[in-house]
Amino acid sequence: MHLPKAELHLHIEGTLEPELAFELAARNAVVLPYSTTEELRRAYLFDDLQSFLDLYYALMAVLRTEDDFDRLADAYLARAAAQGVRHAEIFFDPQAHTARGVDIGTVVEGLARALDRSEERHGISTQLIMCFLRDRSAESALATLEAAGPYLHRIAGVGLDSAEVGHPPSKFREVYEAAAALGLRKVAHAGEEGPPAYIWEALDVLGVERVDHGLRSMEDPELVKRLVRDRVPLTLCPLSNVRLRAIDVLEDHPLRQMMEAGLLVTVNSDDPAYFGGYVGDTFHAVREALGLGQEQLRELARNSFRAAFLDHDEERRAA
Ligand code: ADE
Ligand code: ZN
Repeated sequence: MHLPKAELHLHIEGTLEPELAFELAARNAVVLPYSTTEELRRAYLFDDLQSFLDLYYALMAVLRTEDDFDRLADAYLARAAAQGVRHAEIFFDPQAHTARGVDIGTVVEGLARALDRSEERHGISTQLIMCFLRDRSAESALATLEAAGPYLHRIAGVGLDSAEVGHPPSKFREVYEAAAALGLRKVAHAGEEGPPAYIWEALDVLGVERVDHGLRSMEDPELVKRLVRDRVPLTLCPLSNVRLRAIDVLEDHPLRQMMEAGLLVTVNSDDPAYFGGYVGDTFHAVREALGLGQEQLRELARNSFRAAFLDHDEERRAA
């Protein structure tokens, strides 16, 4: 039995399973550099974040129409529901689509179609978080926020993802200020491969309410104090950290120490089609690798609702 949980760190483009990728490639006349799903799956051996991102962006070529984005999100929601997810705050990367000629409206309207049916069909409430690609310019992020104007009623918040090192949060100060002025919530990836200083910047310069990953927090005791004091949630993705070689093996993951230090940590799947498991699989894997007991797993599930952008009534209903 899966515990009811919220998923707070999930890139919808990272849920593109090889079978759906080939189906959409055929429908949209996109030629993939792989001939079978097995061959594609064999390419899922990554050295680091960038080697994953190269494949992640390349495969997105198959996503072209509203219906494609609807299919993608609906397939995720079906899998997530089967693993106990009751609420999902879903990232998407508009610049990865607009850069190849797909309008942001196609992306948002397509995802929204699946999200609008989600409570009824899958029992999952949803929100969308629009991420800026940090390895592109701050101007491009601002232009993306502007292009999202007609769709802001569908978007709960903004995030920051893609290649981290060399692209500190402070690069995006202005766009986060503009997003806050529009009433959007704020999160950012920080401390996945980048140093603790990036987590400080995400907090102090961008004013984020949650840190995505925050894996390297434990290197800086003052930072841990700050995160504990302010109850800042960290959305950890343990299977991702192993696949992208941030840690060698799951047994080395600092999740348990982070819980013991009083951090508000959650467990998420990041890009489940690429990293070997959805969020229920991830709970199972950390239980086995780290020897977590039922009470700790319940705590992680409770944390996911505490850290969600839900009001208290919604939180009770979802849990
Ligand atoms: N985009 C998709 N997955 C990501 C990750 N784990 N880190 C940064 N950007 C991403
Ligand atoms: Zn991520």
